[in-house]
Amino acid sequence: MRSLAIASLLVLVAPTAILRAQQPSSGPAADSILVTPATIESGRKIFHGVGTCVTCHGAALEGSAVAPTLRAHQWRDATDGELAPIYHVVTHGVPGTLMVSHPGGISDQMAREVAAYIWAVNHRGEKP
Ligand code: HEC
Repeated sequence: MRSLAIASLLVLVAPTAILRAQQPSSGPAADSILVTPATIESGRKIFHGVGTCVTCHGAALEGSAVAPTLRAHQWRDATDGELAPIYHVVTHGVPGTLMVSHPGGISDQMAREVAAYIWAVNHRGEKP
């Protein structure tokens, strides 16, 4: 258990595991999004729980009849599947579609975590 804790700590401080998405404009999106094991795990819980994402996007992010996959694909709204665009979609929705802003009533902080999770599944080989 102790070695596991030390291992997670090492992952946390390893610079490659941390990505800061900085946006120049003001507002919540201007805050940096940290991709750490803790935010990924938290985002996973939100995706499969309170955020209700799983009902439309599938347990493995594979998509469904009503919503697109969130694995690598031709991203329609979240440009190139990058972190900040994913966060933008989650906090603004896609007007005129089933994708509402802040699904499940999640906070901006939760939206950051769920964005970090989706990004990490695609870019860090994290399990969905
Ligand atoms: C009620 C169904 C529904 C729920 C719940 C839902 N989505 Fe979506 N989502 C959609 C649909 C439909 C689209 C595609 C919108 C369009 O037509 O462009 C979408 C698009 C997206 C995209 C952009 C995909 C792309 O190709 O660019 C992301 C990212 C996303 N959703 C994340 C989430 C997250 C994270 C949650 C949970 C916090 C969530 N969605 C909850 C239906 C849903």
